[in-house]
Amino acid sequence: MGDAPRRRTVWIVGASTGIGAALARAFAAGGARCVLSSRRPGALESVARSLATGSEAVVVPIDLADPSAIETAAKQVLDLGPVDVLVLNGGISQRAGALETDLEVVRRIMEVNFFGHVATTRAVVPSMVARRSGQIVVVSSVMGRIGTPLRSTYAASKHALHGWFESLRAELADRGVSITILCPGYVRTDISIHALHADGSSHAVMDGQQERGMDADVFARKALRAIDRRRAEVAIGGAEIVGITLFRFVPALLRRIVRGYRPG
Ligand SMILES: NC(=O)c1ccc[n+]([C@@H]2O[C@H](COP(=O)([O-])OP(=O)(O)OC[C@H]3O[C@@H](n4cnc5c(N)ncnc54)[C@H](OP(=O)(O)O)[C@@H]3O)[C@@H](O)[C@H]2O)c1
Repeated sequence: MGDAPRRRTVWIVGASTGIGAALARAFAAGGARCVLSSRRPGALESVARSLATGSEAVVVPIDLADPSAIETAAKQVLDLGPVDVLVLNGGISQRAGALETDLEVVRRIMEVNFFGHVATTRAVVPSMVARRSGQIVVVSSVMGRIGTPLRSTYAASKHALHGWFESLRAELADRGVSITILCPGYVRTDISIHALHADGSSHAVMDGQQERGMDADVFARKALRAIDRRRAEVAIGGAEIVGITLFRFVPALLRRIVRGYRPG
C-alpha cells in the first residue's frame, strides 16, 4: 500500500475569533492541518481544541503590526512543512469620521489590515512559487469595493488589498499560485466590538447590523466552496453585497444611498 496522502496545510492569520476561527473549523472538518495565528495564544489554543476530532492544529502567535514578528512566525511555520493555503484574515474595523480619526489610528488600521498581510505574503509565497503550488485567500470586505461613512481607513485598507493582490495575481499567472479574494457582507462576529474610534479606543458595541449578519460558520462553508473552486473574487453575505454591483453599474445611485447611511 502507498503512503497516505499528505494533509493540506492551511495557515490562517487572524484565527482566534469570528471568521478566522470559523474558517479553521471548516478547513479542519475537511481534513486540513491548520496553523492558527493572531496575537492571543490562549484564544488560539481554545480554537484548536474546538476543531473536529482527529484534527491537527498548531498555534503560532503573530502580531500583524510587527514586521519582524511576522518574519519570525513565517520561518517557524515553514519549518513545519509547506503551506498549501495562506489565509490572510486578521483585521480591525473603524467607527469614526474620516476627518476626526487620529493619524496614529489611520496608520494602525493600515498596518494590520494591509501592510501586515503584504509582509506575510512576501515571507510565505516565494516557497509556493518555488513548488509551483499554493493558494492565497485574502479576506477583504464589501468595503473593499465601496466606501461608506465612518469607515474611511477601513475601506482604504481593504481597497489597497484588491490593488496589491490583483497585481500579484497578474505577476503569478502560470506560476502555480492562485489568489481568492473574499468580500464578506455582514457576518455575526465581534468585529464592531473591536472596531476603533477616532482616538483609538474600542467601539465596544455589538452593532445591530453585525448581530443580524450571517452566521460565521455558514460564511465559512460558503467561503470554502469558493476557495476550493479557486474563484478569483467572491462576495458572501446578505442583501448588502448588492452594493458592489450597484457601484459598478450605477455608481451615482449607490453614492446617493450611502450618503444617508449611518452604520450601526
Ligand atoms: N464580520 C464582518 O461583518 C466582516 C465583514 C467584512 C469583512 N470582514 C473581515 O473579516 C476579517 C475577520 O474579522 P471578524 O469579523 O472575524 O472580526 P473579529 O472577530 O474581530 O476577528 C478579527 C481577527 O483579527 C485578528 N487580529 C486583529 N488584530 C491583529 C493583529 N494586530 N495581529 C494579528 N491578528 C490580529 C484577531 O485576533 P487577535 O485579537 O487574537 O489578535 C481576530 O482573530 C477581517 O479582516 C474583517 O475586516 C468582516
